[in-house]
Amino acid sequence: MRNFLLASLMGLMLSCTSAQTDENSDKSNIDELISQMTLEEKVHMLHGKGKFTSAGVARLGIPHLKSADGPLGVREEIQNDSWAPAGWDNDFATFFPAGGGLSSTWNLDLVRRYSIAMGEEARAREKHVLLAPAVNLIRSPLGGRNFEYFTEDPFLNKKLVVPFVQGLQANDVASCVKHYAINNQETLRGSIDVQADERTIREMYLPVFEAAVKEGNAYSVMSAYNRFRGAYLSENDYMLNTILRDEWGFKGFVMSDWGAVHSTKESALYGLDIEMGTEIDNYDDWFFSEALIAAVRNGEVSESVIDQKVKNILYVMEKIHAIGSEPQAKGTLNTPEHLQVAYDVAAESVVMLKNDNNALPLKSSKIRSIAVIGDNAKRKHANQGFGAGVKTRTEVTPYDALVAHYPDMKVNYALGYKEQYLKNDLNRSWGLPVDYVPNEQLVAEAVAAAKASDVAVVFAGSNRLVETEAEDRKGLRLPFGQEALIKAVKAANPNTIVVIIAGSPHDLSEIDATVDGLLWSWFNGSRAGDAIVDVLFGEVNPSGKLPVTFPKRLEDSPAHATNSFPGGPDVVTYEEGILVGYRWFDTQNIEPFYPFGYGLSYTSFEYSDLSTDKSSYNAGDVIKVSLKVKNAGAVDGKEIIQLYTSKPESDIQRAARELKGFGKVALKAGEEKLVTLEIPVKELAYYDVEAKGWSVEPGTYDLASGASSRDLRGKVSFSVK
Ligand code: BGC
Repeated sequence: MRNFLLASLMGLMLSCTSAQTDENSDKSNIDELISQMTLEEKVHMLHGKGKFTSAGVARLGIPHLKSADGPLGVREEIQNDSWAPAGWDNDFATFFPAGGGLSSTWNLDLVRRYSIAMGEEARAREKHVLLAPAVNLIRSPLGGRNFEYFTEDPFLNKKLVVPFVQGLQANDVASCVKHYAINNQETLRGSIDVQADERTIREMYLPVFEAAVKEGNAYSVMSAYNRFRGAYLSENDYMLNTILRDEWGFKGFVMSDWGAVHSTKESALYGLDIEMGTEIDNYDDWFFSEALIAAVRNGEVSESVIDQKVKNILYVMEKIHAIGSEPQAKGTLNTPEHLQVAYDVAAESVVMLKNDNNALPLKSSKIRSIAVIGDNAKRKHANQGFGAGVKTRTEVTPYDALVAHYPDMKVNYALGYKEQYLKNDLNRSWGLPVDYVPNEQLVAEAVAAAKASDVAVVFAGSNRLVETEAEDRKGLRLPFGQEALIKAVKAANPNTIVVIIAGSPHDLSEIDATVDGLLWSWFNGSRAGDAIVDVLFGEVNPSGKLPVTFPKRLEDSPAHATNSFPGGPDVVTYEEGILVGYRWFDTQNIEPFYPFGYGLSYTSFEYSDLSTDKSSYNAGDVIKVSLKVKNAGAVDGKEIIQLYTSKPESDIQRAARELKGFGKVALKAGEEKLVTLEIPVKELAYYDVEAKGWSVEPGTYDLASGASSRDLRGKVSFSVK
């Protein structure tokens, strides 16, 4: 900004007025700037000049472009040329709940508050670009990055991404939506060639990116590590030029994932704008550095291609007021309001999986002592594993929260289980083969704590060393012998509750069969402990619902049933096609363990009077769906109502049902509300490969309202002409 003021004083740029928000004058300013730049200046804007910066042109008032990792909050500062922490004392940030937590709220207003807060933090740290959200579709329960991603469902995914991007960008920060595209596994992520048919990518994997660009107006997109149909995503003409720019009208810049570039000419011609990197520190040797200058000089790449890339960057810089006369938002960091957002998301994200015999909520007035058991009772999740975390001043663990909320309760803590790995010849702490054998000594201590207490709560699950970027999990089983621990604790104290903290589906069959009360929480941010304790004791009525299916067995889930995860060594073919997640289970009639959209409440909800406003619609219409929902219990609560459509008679392959609408309503005890949700008829379209476009099949459709994908509470039919 200071540089810019200097530049404008020197008259190097056309003077800017507020009228210049107009597209045409934007262009002329940018063109004018570009015309003053040397080829070297332009090309050096197109590659990393530090781990998280690319160069500007100081003499023209163009700042370095500064980015930071995002999904969990603004990552700590690292050194310019290495991954070592910079050691600053002002780079603390709020740890926001990871993707799974955010999506299980199904609450779009909360998503917007969350990303506005995150954007304010990014600005306070003087970032131009936040590398968030991470939105790849969850294809396998084993995906290492599932905890960062939102869901297995393309409709929920695209509904979540729009307020996320808009909220983030509200404070002069560009959202970099990642990882574009079809990047659904960590195994061989740097080389694997994904083969998926056109209908599958259009219906399942691309809608979230399309919505981010067309509705969210995302200013940047990160190209993924892997290949798609032979070409790396950083040099994939079809993905970057044909779809992203030509079809969707994307105007911002494409930034590579770190070290995801493999060529100079192809990447330049096929749609990459900025090369970012990881291991290589000699920036002149990068594909988009001296080699790109040479490619222009020898005629392989025209200078107009370079100009366009610079234009894409300056377009974004102008939008976020990094250039131009308007001041850039200053942002705020670690405010009480941001911690409140983190709490609100965490509190609405907790999913109650089981509550037999009213095991929950716990009644604080009746509990004098509580056994708090498990590594996850005290573990912090802001910053472990491979990849981005957050350096935060505040991370309230469940143990901390319990002690703070109930100072008069005697807490008997026992570790119960601890991390143990079979071998570590990899010289790293994350993604190691886990040991499932319980630690007898720790189990004995936990049993003693449980016996000495009125109730026992075991905080189990995984952690960010087990679920991590760069490595997929090997199986569904809970690590470190937790089943045996939980059985022993339950035998010692019948009032045993289990809280699982994790980011991906696990096999909970033994635990579900052991205890009456079972809650699920996520890597849930700075106030995770406060939120889970408030749910445990009924201060908050749980209202989260699962954004993914929990299979009974790994082989039941689609990518594994079709033996196509993780594929390799060179290619992975998405054999299940459009039947990802619950679409597979429902179409194949396979019983899931916990279905997509499932989650219990301390109250119960009754659905009635489902209807559509008409019985027949045209392709351009909007279907108005209404139903009554009543809180039939004694406590206030929130319910996520889901609308699924089916087409029983169809000329094409169809999933048994597809989510096409949802809404979250708050209902006081005893209250009934008439809820209206809208489904544009075009949402019913399938991708017609021959016609290369979306098509709504005429005929009869069924519409069901449900409390989950397997708990359908009403059904109506309508027709489309
Ligand atoms: C990840 C990206 C991340 C980048 C920079 C890569 O390994 O895939 O999500 O933004 O590193 O940290």
